[in-house]
Amino acid sequence: MKLSARGAMASRPWLILLLGLAGVLKVPGQRSPDSTGFVSIDCGLPPEQGGYLDAATKLPYVPDGAFTDAGANHNISAEYITPSLSRRYLNVRSFPSSPRSCYTLPSTVARGSKYLLRATFIYGNYDGLNKPPVFDLHLGVNFWQTVNITSPGAAQIAEVVAIVPDESVQVCLVDTGSGTPFISGLDLRPLRDTLYPQANATQALVLVDRNNFGVNGLSSLIRYPDDPYDRVWIPWSDPDKWSEIATTEKIQDLADPRFQAPQAVMQTAIAARNGSASPGTIELWWDVVPSRVYPGVPGCVSIFYFAELQAVSGGALRQFDMAINGTLWSKAPYTPRHLASDGFFNGEPHRGFTRFNFTLNATAKSTLPPTINAAEFFSVVSIADVATDAKDVAAIAAIKAKYQVKKTNWAGDPCSPKALAWDGLNCSYAISMPPRITRLNMSLGGLSGDMSSYFGNLKVIKYLDLSYNNLTGSIPNVLSELPFLVMLDLTGNQLNGSIPSGLMKRIQDGSLTLRYGKNSNLCNNGTSCQPTKKKSSSMLAVYIAVPIVAVVVAGALAALLLIARKRQGSGKGSVKPQNEASASQNGDGQHSLLQLENRRFTYRELEAMTSNFQRVLGRGGFGSVYDGFLPDGTQVAVKLRSQSSSQGVREFLTEAQTLTKIHHKNLVSMVGYCKDGECMALVYEHMSEGNLEDKLRGKDHNAGSLTWRQRLRIALESAKGLEYLHKACSPAFVHRDVKTSNILLNANLEAKVADFGLLKAFSQDGDTHVSTARLVGTHGYLAPEYAAALQLTVKSDVYSFGIVLLEVITGQTPILQCPDPTNIIQWARQRLARGNIEDVVDVRMQGEYDVNGVWKAADVALKCTVQAPTQRPTMTDVVMQLQECLELEEQHHL
Ligand SMILES: *[C@@H]1O[C@H](CO)[C@@H](O)[C@H](O)[C@H]1NC(C)=O
Ligand SMILES: *[C@@H]1O[C@H](CO)[C@@H](O)[C@H](O)[C@H]1NC(C)=O
Ligand SMILES: *[C@@H]1O[C@H](CO)[C@@H](O)[C@H](O)[C@H]1NC(C)=O
Ligand SMILES: *[C@@H]1O[C@H](CO)[C@@H](O)[C@H](O)[C@H]1NC(C)=O
Ligand SMILES: *[C@@H]1O[C@H](CO)[C@@H](O)[C@H](O)[C@H]1NC(C)=O
Ligand SMILES: *[C@@H]1O[C@H](CO)[C@@H](O)[C@H](O)[C@H]1NC(C)=O
Ligand SMILES: *[C@@H]1O[C@H](CO)[C@@H](O)[C@H](O)[C@H]1NC(C)=O
Ligand SMILES: *[C@@H]1O[C@H](CO)[C@@H](O)[C@H](O)[C@H]1NC(C)=O
Ligand SMILES: *[C@@H]1O[C@H](CO)[C@@H](O)[C@H](O)[C@H]1NC(C)=O
Repeated sequence: MKLSARGAMASRPWLILLLGLAGVLKVPGQRSPDSTGFVSIDCGLPPEQGGYLDAATKLPYVPDGAFTDAGANHNISAEYITPSLSRRYLNVRSFPSSPRSCYTLPSTVARGSKYLLRATFIYGNYDGLNKPPVFDLHLGVNFWQTVNITSPGAAQIAEVVAIVPDESVQVCLVDTGSGTPFISGLDLRPLRDTLYPQANATQALVLVDRNNFGVNGLSSLIRYPDDPYDRVWIPWSDPDKWSEIATTEKIQDLADPRFQAPQAVMQTAIAARNGSASPGTIELWWDVVPSRVYPGVPGCVSIFYFAELQAVSGGALRQFDMAINGTLWSKAPYTPRHLASDGFFNGEPHRGFTRFNFTLNATAKSTLPPTINAAEFFSVVSIADVATDAKDVAAIAAIKAKYQVKKTNWAGDPCSPKALAWDGLNCSYAISMPPRITRLNMSLGGLSGDMSSYFGNLKVIKYLDLSYNNLTGSIPNVLSELPFLVMLDLTGNQLNGSIPSGLMKRIQDGSLTLRYGKNSNLCNNGTSCQPTKKKSSSMLAVYIAVPIVAVVVAGALAALLLIARKRQGSGKGSVKPQNEASASQNGDGQHSLLQLENRRFTYRELEAMTSNFQRVLGRGGFGSVYDGFLPDGTQVAVKLRSQSSSQGVREFLTEAQTLTKIHHKNLVSMVGYCKDGECMALVYEHMSEGNLEDKLRGKDHNAGSLTWRQRLRIALESAKGLEYLHKACSPAFVHRDVKTSNILLNANLEAKVADFGLLKAFSQDGDTHVSTARLVGTHGYLAPEYAAALQLTVKSDVYSFGIVLLEVITGQTPILQCPDPTNIIQWARQRLARGNIEDVVDVRMQGEYDVNGVWKAADVALKCTVQAPTQRPTMTDVVMQLQECLELEEQHHL
């Protein structure tokens, strides 16, 4: 005998008959459907027709309108309708205009419960195209299986056993370009949580086959209520090869709560017919085919159910071995128990096969042939991808509903999977963390009505663009409480009232850029929206970099300027500097690159150095940094620019050129670089202790907390690096992105300032500052005059260094959540004003410091961060002061 099932989706043309016949199956006593937690949906059923009881199971089926907001209803073509066809196949819902369309089903039991989900399909030429489609099914954000409709009249079933972590679960149909997705029916069935232990938080079981052996004849299809979970057991026998065994006696249920087959299923079995040599062998096999998502061979889980149905007396013995592809699966010869269920299963998925060939082979001692009562066969899929943060989902869903957003891909999870993220949304993705919405662009979206307060629930949003809509009413102040919001664009609406005070404050402290031009009723009597007011309709776009990505996308104007410069300057593919600074000020870019030539690596050399980019040391806006070794064994760090990097060729070149010119023991030095076709990489000395930020935040798990003396030394050394940049070079360099994550530490905890991609040179003679066309740097570290007016001086670095120093003292982040976002300067100032240094000092130093030294350092930090740039000390002053702090600390320990 053989059983065949293809892939995760078994295509069984004969199934239509089975399910079609469901209407004439015996219907044992009814149960109250309310207590089952079942959800049974007839997809495409017009709401006005209402629900009905399914003829076979007496389960109530309902129309699908309450579960989805997309798609259209169709009837299948008359030629595929037979009298016995289950009613839910008569109509379908199809989703022609969207890459992903979803049903949202309630998790009817509790969060974290286990369910069986079943989707059913009969194409029935509903669209008159006679072209059965192929599309994907997703369970939430994870691939479930591909639905390949091979025959227009055949019923196809997709079934998965999975844990649903949330209050609801989405079943999504994903258009893969091979026809319009459609669906006939959708069932949700709660399972006892102990069942199917192979289905866990990260792994789901996709049904390949579920067989009830020893029954022939389609009328014996077993499902609800015989199976309380409404699993469908497909009868199978082959009288030519196998004898059928049956009993009417009760079979004792399996003691093991992990497996349970219904009585009616266990009461029948097949046995091998006596062969010539031995009492026989049962052979069963299933095929699986790789899917698009699992191009390797999927793992498989099988469950075999046994019970001895015959009285085995005297010297008779039924005993057999089980093997997969000839490898013994059962540890010892197996004898089924009389009238008692038993289960055989694999906990870890079998892998590495496309055909799973099981043999049940009688042992030499056995007088009776092997038997089997039932089997289930599943392939496993990963459900490890996590859905977007639930609060973000709730907020964006409310926004979508309020403005009746009609964008076709606004379906399913907003951020996940990445390839299907909603238009106009950007998200942050971190491994095993829910994605978060970081950018929302609804410009020109036809939004009308007032501004939804739900915008204020997108707690980590950085960019919110609502320009050119018909928004009315006032600007909600809750937006000022979004700690990471750096850009709010409300240009071109009908907003009225004034700018809320909270937003005003954010604008003043430089942490937010607001654009509100072309709102004729907005009384902008505030004074601080200068950037917008002056330049609102001129094109100056100000973008502020965000903490994770150190570097910022150039604004529209900056990009335009660049293109203009590029035209004047260099041709395509040229490595000539395109940076405003280097192009305008020294013109020696060519020269620097020549100097670089002798330390140039090829991409192949980089591959060899990094063993194929195996170990990632860190990631930034530029791409990833990899661990590597030079041929002579020197350890290095290789910063490889990723294709998708927002940091451009320009930053790459700036940094490469700068590093050839500047050499200081407190600046990270470059070993070489690669510019080889698309490959761009910088090779640095290896800084084994990582960056100061991780050290301070304790991200570096094996590190104890830094002592005050270590902290001071690191601060002093970084200050010296910056002083060198400001003083020793002509023209002076402004680093522009001084922050703890750009201060690297070597094995001796010596500090070196890194990341010169944003470095900018300007002549100090005459000009007191340069105005730059775009704002770069990192939120939380930006000097106010730079953030507000793009006025850049070396004092901007002093300000940022002040923040670094405060972090070193307090161990806090530049923006604290306590619970409202607070700037570290305010936080420290307020506490220090009370005269108590203990209030601000990092508790991880456990009081081990010279109080006078800490006061002095705090004082330096506060001076560095005063509003007026001219009142800030120079880095030379800072170095002197920190030197004194260190001396105080060293005396303290004498
Ligand atoms: C589908 O068929 C039903 C009854 O057979 C009919 O009432 C309904 O209008 C049809 N729907 C469509 C979209 O043709
Ligand atoms: C769908 O199934 C048919 C028949 O088995 C096969 O030829 C075809 O390649 C499949 N299509 C996809 C996209 O898997
Ligand atoms: C198999 O053969 C044994 C003896 O060889 C016999 O006792 C038994 O009844 C046979 N079983 C079947 C199912 O034919
Ligand atoms: C299954 O495996 C057995 C040996 O383990 C072999 O004799 C048999 O031919 C195989 N059957 C199929 C269908 O591959
Ligand atoms: C789920 O089961 C698989 C296979 O046994 C295992 O690798 C994985 O770690 C399990 N996941 C959880 C969350 O237990
Ligand atoms: C298992 O056996 C089947 C049938 O004999 C064969 O097609 C398949 O390649 C085998 N797989 C492995 C991994 O041996
Ligand atoms: C089945 O059992 C017989 C007798 O024990 C043995 O000779 C034979 O090799 C076994 N076949 C398989 C496929 O294990
Ligand atoms: C926006 O308002 C203007 C003026 O009231 C109106 O002409 C336009 O149609 C509105 N647009 C939308 C999309 O509602
Ligand atoms: C200016 O703003 C204040 C509140 O900030 C408001 O009370 C006042 O009416 C506004 N003045 C004008 C002329 O809009």
